[in-house]
Amino acid sequence: MRLSRYFIPVLKETPSDAQIVSHRLMLRAGLIRQEAAGIYAWLPLGHRVLRKIEQIVREEQDRAGAAEMLMPTLQPADLWRESGRYDDYGQEMLRIVDRHKRDLLYGPTNEEMITEIFRSYCRSYKDVPKLLYHIQWKFRDEIRPRFGVMRGREFLMKDAYSFDLDEEAARKSYNRMFVAYLNTFARLGLKSVPMRADTGPIGGDLSHEFIILADTGESEVFCHADLLEMGAPGLDVNFDGDLQPLVDQRTALYAATEEMHDADRFVAEVPEHKRVSARGIEVGHIFNFGTKYSEPMNASVAHPDGKERPVHMGSYGVGVSRLMGGIIEASHDDNGIIWPESVAPYGVGIINMRPGDAACDAACETAYQALSKAGKEPLLDDTEDRAGAKFARMDLIGLPYQIVIGPRGLKEGKIELKVRRSGEKHDLSLDDAIDRLAEGKFANG
Ligand SMILES: Nc1ncnc2c1ncn2[C@@H]1O[C@H](COP(=O)(O)OP(=O)(O)O)[C@@H](O)[C@H]1O
Ligand SMILES: [Mg+2]
Repeated sequence: MRLSRYFIPVLKETPSDAQIVSHRLMLRAGLIRQEAAGIYAWLPLGHRVLRKIEQIVREEQDRAGAAEMLMPTLQPADLWRESGRYDDYGQEMLRIVDRHKRDLLYGPTNEEMITEIFRSYCRSYKDVPKLLYHIQWKFRDEIRPRFGVMRGREFLMKDAYSFDLDEEAARKSYNRMFVAYLNTFARLGLKSVPMRADTGPIGGDLSHEFIILADTGESEVFCHADLLEMGAPGLDVNFDGDLQPLVDQRTALYAATEEMHDADRFVAEVPEHKRVSARGIEVGHIFNFGTKYSEPMNASVAHPDGKERPVHMGSYGVGVSRLMGGIIEASHDDNGIIWPESVAPYGVGIINMRPGDAACDAACETAYQALSKAGKEPLLDDTEDRAGAKFARMDLIGLPYQIVIGPRGLKEGKIELKVRRSGEKHDLSLDDAIDRLAEGKFANG
């Protein structure tokens, strides 16, 4: 992409109403624009990152054996009357009446709809297990939308739902998602810790929140320090094998959110120097809720003994749009965002220090073509802006690498390559820089 044709409305001033760094940086770097409280337009750069996060979430759902589908944002109220949640959900639910006076709502989550879909087609033990997911916008009329995309009213969520014959099988589905989540967040450059959590309005008894630590997080969390260093299981795990040992390993040590915290147990179980008491951001939440929805909504299957019983269900959410804020909280400096390579909107920024200079233009064009071809998604700053403004903008938007091409360097056959995260700079020939970037020869965390 050429910046002269692109749209990155960078703000010069720090927006005064943004309280946390990720919100400030998202506004300043032109990723999002607020359209109403808690409702955002995703500008081109923000949209690219959102799509990349979404794609990683999708790939790990697929790897875990979940099947993607897409349910609508609008749902009939009657479905929610069946489960009893139409009244329970309260004011967070955005209710809509259509021209025929039928009650609709903008979905805050999809347990009811997926249960209705399942029960319409699946009647036998042969029809389970099923693990289905979609990535769709949700609306929750939060009383206090804040921190930008962290707590929005409209937000993008991946929500998966599992259907199993019995509790033991449901546990296996739960474990699949548990492991998939660890891998997902690791690919996004995040250290996540699963913590025992309250089940809230979704209900049920087994639940974990996946938390990333950040001072600006909304949740107060307590855990054993070793959990932070445990790392993800890795993409080669066999999802059809026994995942229980992996899950046990990560649930054996103390980790709880505020609602589930037991101060006495914390002190008894965790040696003092290992006690982490911090703030965190909830980026994912998984629930096993048994027959809470299948029973009232009559989603039953015939077991091998011929008897019909309600299926055991679970639901598994990832805050796709919230993750963008979480990633920025975890990865930025005074100059701006530092994207992990896996979600960077573009892989390399090329700065043309003197557009119009034949040698600079030609070198930039060579770099642009070669890096495009190598799949590095370059963003070429071919604008007439001052050098200082170009450097500041490139740092602010946080692409992992920058190539600076100016007339003076070119005379000596050199360009400058900067690694955004470390700030280290290399004087290289253009060909060397292109080759090394194309081969991924710079460590960038
Ligand atoms: N208002 C919101 N804005 C952005 N993301 C949200 C919001 N509410 C929930 N999420 C994301 O969706 C995931 C699943 O939501 P869920 O656990 O059902 O919501 P909650 O924790 O608010 O009860 C959460 O872990 C979080 O990452
Ligand atoms: Mg939650």
